[in-house]
Amino acid sequence: RSGNGDSRGALVVLEGLDRCGKSTQSGRLLTYLKGLGHSTELWRFPDRTTSVGQMISSYLSSQSQLDDHTVHLLFSANRWEKRSLMERKLKSGTTLIVDRYSYSGVAFSSAKGLDIDWCKAPEIGLLAPDMVVYLNIPPEKAAERGGYGDERYEKLEFQRKVSHSYQVLHDASWKMIDACQPIEDIEKQLQEMVSDCVRICQKGKPLSFLWS
Ligand code: TYD
Ligand code: MG
Repeated sequence: RSGNGDSRGALVVLEGLDRCGKSTQSGRLLTYLKGLGHSTELWRFPDRTTSVGQMISSYLSSQSQLDDHTVHLLFSANRWEKRSLMERKLKSGTTLIVDRYSYSGVAFSSAKGLDIDWCKAPEIGLLAPDMVVYLNIPPEKAAERGGYGDERYEKLEFQRKVSHSYQVLHDASWKMIDACQPIEDIEKQLQEMVSDCVRICQKGKPLSFLWS
């Protein structure tokens, strides 16, 4: 570490369909990085603890109805309200593992039929991840896992559309992991990918912004 402020944490984002294993893997990754002595935190979006997050939560559980555009902007606002804290954490050397980010925002809303460029616009200027990992699972396989709750998007038909949106959205920089593999295999692959990323960020890779 340089100790002169150049050494920063990495912004690592996990994406994928509901039930793809993001939460399990992000938890394991947190334990791994902490074990290596890296300052690390696990974040997730939506962050249901804020007042915007509570509006999102009540929408997802169908306790409230909102227009698709409106809820899209709430998900985005939920990221914006955490942006400055995110930047401070990264600059102070803390690595953030983030369970869903702007890509979920675009994938889920465009799956409803909203224009993809319109969906991307409110995300402009948020911090760009240093690495995006996509846990790839066929929607049918995810549905077989059971454990879909009663939330609005947790239905096979809709997850198929989201899967398609992710395919449109992803680029060559994304790391793809076959999420049908055993948990430990996925865990190992993630560890290798993320270790590299953390090292590069420590060496002073500059922060960048969406959509880059
Ligand atoms: P999810 O990750 O399932 O949260 P939890 O583990 O708390 O249930 O997210 C809830 C749903 O919100 C999920 O179906 C994906 C969707 N979503 C969006 O539609 N837009 C977004 O910007 C984000 C972050 C999530
Ligand atoms: Mg969920």
